[in-house]
Amino acid sequence: MTNFGFETTSDEAATALSSYIQGRTVIITGVTEGSLGADIARALAPHMPAILILASRSKEKIMKVVNRIQFSSETKVQVLELDLASLASVRAAAEKILDWTTSVDAIMETAGVMAVPDFTKTEDGVEMQFAVNHLGHFLLTNLIMPRLLASQTGGRVVPFTSAGHKQAVLNLEDVNFKNGEYYNKWWAYGSSKGCNILFALGLDQRFGNRGLRSFAVDPGVIVGTGLSRNVEKTEFIELGWLNPDGSAPAGFIQKSAAQGAATGIVAAFDPALADQKGSVMEGGTVNNGMAAPYALERSNIDKLWELSEELVDQHFM
Ligand SMILES: NC(=O)c1ccc[n+]([C@@H]2O[C@H](COP(=O)([O-])OP(=O)(O)OC[C@H]3O[C@@H](n4cnc5c(N)ncnc54)[C@H](OP(=O)(O)O)[C@@H]3O)[C@@H](O)[C@H]2O)c1
Repeated sequence: MTNFGFETTSDEAATALSSYIQGRTVIITGVTEGSLGADIARALAPHMPAILILASRSKEKIMKVVNRIQFSSETKVQVLELDLASLASVRAAAEKILDWTTSVDAIMETAGVMAVPDFTKTEDGVEMQFAVNHLGHFLLTNLIMPRLLASQTGGRVVPFTSAGHKQAVLNLEDVNFKNGEYYNKWWAYGSSKGCNILFALGLDQRFGNRGLRSFAVDPGVIVGTGLSRNVEKTEFIELGWLNPDGSAPAGFIQKSAAQGAATGIVAAFDPALADQKGSVMEGGTVNNGMAAPYALERSNIDKLWELSEELVDQHFM
């Protein structure tokens, strides 16, 4: 068994797990230059997955990532246009995945948005951060579930969460904040990240006995990805997440993108996790203790599952 830690990089994790990456079919959402998803794709490439499906909103953006990576001829790279803010787009993307492959070994769900400044609803009438960070992934995962369950090695689903989920007051009775009346961008982000944990646990409960594993991964604090695009530097300083000179406050540990991406790779491929049920991971290891109590509560797991089914208008299990 390999030990992975806070400072492990994506390259180190992928090298240690190389034989479990080779020949696998892997989906990564959120692949654009500078994103954690892009770093995961880069780190996996030398280890020759059989099929690598790289998904994001724009084909052009994904191609910029693809063109920088040296893929082996053993790897078939599929570029997938996917707008998680549109249930129709998610359904179309799922159809393509079902066409392209008979099994999926891992889906790493890194796509996300943070702190959308003004209350925004998707074309389906759902608050943007809940929709992109949770609901779109909920639908995609369930639509391709037959392929995940067909994995010879046990399918893995890896939603990316955040320590920011602890700032949330989860209200599954009203994910639209009374049509925006009391919208708070950090609550909305935080609760959508809490939903990532609840979703991983819900998957485990429903499909764990059929070999599926799901780990919600907190990548840590990574500066320099696109996630902060909606947040001014002054706001980070006010929040105490940044010193006025741009340096990190004492005790506030930042990671590189490669360190942030590593735990996702461990979650998706480490065979030592095969018997690990319903878990949250950070710093390369399982740590359910990092989750806020609401994000582990059985009633919330079930409520989120039922609400999500209602919103996508489809029953899964
Ligand atoms: N970075 C951190 O410090 C940090 C900390 C804790 C948790 N996380 C979590 O880690 C994950 C990855 O974050 P990151 O830092 O890599 O952020 P990022 O650089 O902003 O990447 C996010 C990705 O999601 C895509 N995306 C946004 N909206 C989408 C939509 N509607 N449909 C499909 N794709 C969409 C983006 O595509 P576009 O380029 O088209 O927008 C981009 O590829 C997120 O779930 C985040 O919550 C990050």
